[in-house]
Amino acid sequence: MSNEREQDFVFTDTDFRRVVSIIYARAGIRLNESKQPMVYSRLARRLRALNLAKFSDYLNFLEADPKHEEWQQFTNSLTTNLTFFFREKHHFEMLSDQLHKLHGPVRIWCSASSTGEEPYSLAMTAVEVYGRFNSDVQIIASDLDTQVLAKAQNGIYSMDKLDKVSPEKCKIFFLKGVGKNAGQAKVRKELRAMIEFKQINLLANSWPLTPYFDTIFCRNVMIYFDQATQKVMLEKMGRLLKPNGFLYVGHSENLHHMSEWFYSCGKTVYRLTDKAIHEWGLSK
Ligand SMILES: C[S@@+](CC[C@H](N)C(=O)[O-])C[C@H]1O[C@@H](n2cnc3c(N)ncnc32)[C@H](O)[C@@H]1O
Repeated sequence: MSNEREQDFVFTDTDFRRVVSIIYARAGIRLNESKQPMVYSRLARRLRALNLAKFSDYLNFLEADPKHEEWQQFTNSLTTNLTFFFREKHHFEMLSDQLHKLHGPVRIWCSASSTGEEPYSLAMTAVEVYGRFNSDVQIIASDLDTQVLAKAQNGIYSMDKLDKVSPEKCKIFFLKGVGKNAGQAKVRKELRAMIEFKQINLLANSWPLTPYFDTIFCRNVMIYFDQATQKVMLEKMGRLLKPNGFLYVGHSENLHHMSEWFYSCGKTVYRLTDKAIHEWGLSK
C-alpha cells in the first residue's frame, strides 16, 4: 500500500495488520486486505487531527493508554454504518403481524441501530399497529459507535433519506424543516420518546439490559464477525428472548450454524427451539 500512491502519512503493511488485530479484539470486526485503503482514509483524519505523521505513532499513542478517549474515535472511524428507513420491508410486515398478536407491554431491542433509521422504523410500525404513540412499547436502540448514536438521538435527517417512507407516514411522524432547516426533517418527539438509546458493544461479556424481549433486531452487523464471535453473541441474545420471541437478522445473514437454538420462521427471521427454551429455563 505504501508504494501505491503518494500519501500524507506513513502507513505500512505492519501498521495495517496492527489495526486489523486491534479492531477485531475490541469490536469483533474483521477487516480483510481489501480494506487497507479504507483504513488509511478513515484513520488519516485522526492522524491529521492529532498532528501525527505516522500510523505507528498513532497506534503507539493509543496503546499507551487503554482508557484514552481517542479509542472511541478509532472505533467510530472503522465501523460501517449503512442503513435506511424500512430496510428489508418484509421484516416490518412480519413485525406488524407479530405485534397484532401481543397484549401488554412490548419490548424490542434494536442491537445495531446505526444512525436511527431502523429503530424509528420499528417505532412507526408499532404506532401504526396500536393506533397511538404507545407508552407500552419500549424500544432499546444500541450501537457501539457513539457518533451514529448521537445522530440517531438527534432524529434529524435530510429529506432524501425519507424516500422509503410513505408521504402519509412522513406527515404523521416527521416535522419538515423550514427556513435554514429546509431540506431536513425531524422525528416527532412522541416517536423519539418510545426509544431509549444506549451504547452497547455486542462483543462485551455482559450487556446492560434486563430480560426479556419480544423482538430483537440484529441486522447487518454479524457479517462483520467471524463464526465463533457470532455464536457467542447469538446465544446471549437468545437467552434474552421471550419463549415466543423473534430474532430478525440481515438479508445476507443466517443462523444455520445455530440450529440447536434457533429455527427459521420466515425470511431471515428466527425463533427459539424447544431445546433452547427448556435448557435456558425460559418457561412457555
Ligand atoms: C451496516 S450497519 C447496520 C445498521 C442496521 N442494523 C441496518 O441493518 O440497517 C452496522 C452497525 O453495526 C455497528 N457495530 C459494529 N460492530 C459492533 C459491535 N461490536 N457492537 C455493536 N454494534 C456494532 C456499527 O457501528 C454499525 O452502526
